[in-house]
Amino acid sequence: MITINENYLKLQASYLFSNIAKRVTAFQQAHPEKDIIRLGIGDVTRALPPACIAAFHKAVDEMGTDSSFRGYGPEQGYGFLREAIAKHDFQARGAEISADEIFISDGAKCDTGNIQELFTQDIKVAIPDPVYPVYLDTNVMAGRTGNFVDGRYQGLVYLDSTKANNFVPALPSEDVDLIYLCFPNNPTGSTITKDELSLWVKYAKEKKALILFDAAYEAFIRDESLPHSIYEIEGAREVAIEFRSFSKSAGFTGTRCAYTVVPKECAAFDSQGNRQFIHPLWNRRHCTKFNGVSYPVQRAAEAIYSEEGQAETKELIASYMRNADLIRQEMATLGYDFVGGENAPYIWIDAKGDSWEFFDMLLNKAGVVCTPGAGFGKCGEGYIRLSAFNSQANVEKAMARIREMGK
Ligand code: MLT
Repeated sequence: MITINENYLKLQASYLFSNIAKRVTAFQQAHPEKDIIRLGIGDVTRALPPACIAAFHKAVDEMGTDSSFRGYGPEQGYGFLREAIAKHDFQARGAEISADEIFISDGAKCDTGNIQELFTQDIKVAIPDPVYPVYLDTNVMAGRTGNFVDGRYQGLVYLDSTKANNFVPALPSEDVDLIYLCFPNNPTGSTITKDELSLWVKYAKEKKALILFDAAYEAFIRDESLPHSIYEIEGAREVAIEFRSFSKSAGFTGTRCAYTVVPKECAAFDSQGNRQFIHPLWNRRHCTKFNGVSYPVQRAAEAIYSEEGQAETKELIASYMRNADLIRQEMATLGYDFVGGENAPYIWIDAKGDSWEFFDMLLNKAGVVCTPGAGFGKCGEGYIRLSAFNSQANVEKAMARIREMGK
């Protein structure tokens, strides 16, 4: 008899963003005349930078000629892209990361979800609340939790991120082994200072813990005092893995390219208490279970680091951040309490009530899609998230409709 992994039965009925998509589709079917503006899922709307498109085309043409055709590529990614990343994203900021510590992949979602299979089932996992649901769900699937009771999975350590702590969680009061951190934060848009991040690195060293640092939104940082990478913090190479993505920074959500950094010193422990380096194990997993990202996509990603690519992605990010400014201005005018949107494309707004009810009201009355905070965890209840990923015209229209709604 084939038996099921019952951990899957503990999961909430559907993934947050599929649930929202279903509700929006049902609403659109019921009201085909309504023009819906999507400020829910953080999906980019602007075209790929011209430098990426040119490199993409050129690489596709190379695939059409025997002499330049490429078959299987290295699972870890092509050297040209890994070198460019190490130089521009880390070494240029004084973070000592080499090309062979970078693993190219098709998304930070997959990497943050897959990495936890390297660790045993009995580790104590600390997860922020509110949180990007993937960290949570993948640990549920792996059997590291009990049931979902009162809005939380038993067996996990939740790191509350609330207004009281400026949406930056405090160190856990009990010992934990695996810690998820995301800054600039999804969903709250909050940021962490170097001093605050140093405390986490110090904690991880003392407790022999590991930090999974999701930096998918680092490109949106405008305050230059903030860290873009955890490797800007001394000692982080031993205790942190970092995830990055080109999805939001260069419009690659449909093109798919991201990377994970596993420094050579980064280790976990075996049952005898011996240090085991993670790099060869992640490499082993990557080679066994991942086919690599296609050559043309990696060439397109490499072009981000060219002079034109840098200028074009900077402008792309600036355009989304202008939307974030518009949303922040409007929310302030309407008297909402909010955070985020200064160094992140997300604005986290106090809905002054039930977050799914606010979602429904916004959809029904204004035709605007947001993400209800409750979908990100118990501490998200009472909040909604607005994303800056849309055209300026649509964001202006959405703000005007929300203004009208309040009248
Ligand atoms: C979000 O809206 O939180 C993100 O788009 C989700 C993702 O990147 O997978």
